[in-house]
Amino acid sequence: MSIAVRGVSKRFKSVSVLDDINIDVAAGELVALLGPSGSGKTTLLRVIAGLEIADQGSILLDGEDATSRPVKERGVGFVFQHYALFRHMSVFENVAFGLRVKPRKSRPSEEDIESKVRDLLELVQLDAYADRYPSQLSGGQRQRIALARALAVGPRVLLLDEPFGALDAKVRQDLRRSLRDLHDDLGVTTVFVTHDQEEALELADRVVLMNRGVVEQAGSPQEVYERPATPFVCNFLGDVNVLQGRIEQDTAFVGGIALAIPANAASGDGVVYVRPHALDIRTTRDSRYQFAARVVHVNSAGSIVKIELLAEWGKTIRAEVTQERFRQLGIQRHSDVFVSTDPSAGVFAHVSPGGASPSSAPAAEGRQPGGGHLGASGVAYSTVKTNLLTS
Ligand SMILES: Nc1ncnc2c1ncn2[C@@H]1O[C@H](COP(=O)(O)OP(=O)(O)OP(=O)(O)O)[C@@H](O)[C@H]1O
Ligand SMILES: [Mg+2]
Repeated sequence: MSIAVRGVSKRFKSVSVLDDINIDVAAGELVALLGPSGSGKTTLLRVIAGLEIADQGSILLDGEDATSRPVKERGVGFVFQHYALFRHMSVFENVAFGLRVKPRKSRPSEEDIESKVRDLLELVQLDAYADRYPSQLSGGQRQRIALARALAVGPRVLLLDEPFGALDAKVRQDLRRSLRDLHDDLGVTTVFVTHDQEEALELADRVVLMNRGVVEQAGSPQEVYERPATPFVCNFLGDVNVLQGRIEQDTAFVGGIALAIPANAASGDGVVYVRPHALDIRTTRDSRYQFAARVVHVNSAGSIVKIELLAEWGKTIRAEVTQERFRQLGIQRHSDVFVSTDPSAGVFAHVSPGGASPSSAPAAEGRQPGGGHLGASGVAYSTVKTNLLTS
């Protein structure tokens, strides 16, 4: 079943929580709704499910207007952000619940319920746990039961609100994989909410980035990562060095240094975003687009080497190179190097509105038209942590 969200707006009291949201989810697609805490993800999911009524706009399910259709008739399975299994019911009864409360005429027979629940428990690989109670399960197992319970009624749309929210990294990894497998097996149209960018990029066919109640960008993981449409998306997806300076076509001047950037139509004061992997480190100076830097920290544990550099204009910058390149360079802490940007990948420039320097014009701080948040003035580097704790 396809989902179309058309011009949905929602206010709580005077606060706008969703502002003219338009999203299309194709039948069978797995879409991630990604955004920081408070950006409206849960509210949007609840509007799609029919648990919340939008002030404006409509929800189409398979092309039919479902805006005024009650929750029960929308065919959605929902796993809540702070899911609650019924504590006094066994795992089996939790999963069977949705089937038992169906109206008599559509309620399956006891045998059918039994076999359906067994199948679902097998699907989430917890068939041996049918007689346990939620308190006897790990967090990851409970999430899988919540998923099985949502699937029991044969939903045509699965809405998952931070299904792996409170779990540790390893368990999240495993569950990610099982959600992807499950989705590939069942082909149920799925929208899942997360504020973990890695999770979204890894799992989803398409990612919808939300910020303060608006959609900043929707696209494949590759598109949104490689061609971020707004400063917000740039900042939110992956680590990025944030450099303030002057942008002139294919050059940015940062701290008096010229850096190569992708050709930009606009000129003026603005911000250059550089992914750590888009910095090229050399031990000799061979181009005017290089700046001098000193290695201040090296973390070589892992498949890539993370290098912290003190740039000649006094700011710290983070770079990443492969292990092979690191060995070739033969650098270590305190080494002096020359660094340039590779404008073909991972360098984005945004001219500030009005071309005013963010550091001299307070109005350029904070939210930019288009939803960007450029952070405090004068901050030349920031690492964006997106694994916020679930509130
Ligand atoms: N019932 C409500 N009454 C008033 N305000 C609400 C209500 N529900 C949500 N809000 C507000 O709407 C905004 C968006 O909330 P929402 O739960 O959709 O965010 P979210 O993106 O899911 O955040 P999180 O990642 O923390 O779960 C927040 O500012 C929240 O305080
Ligand atoms: Mg939420």
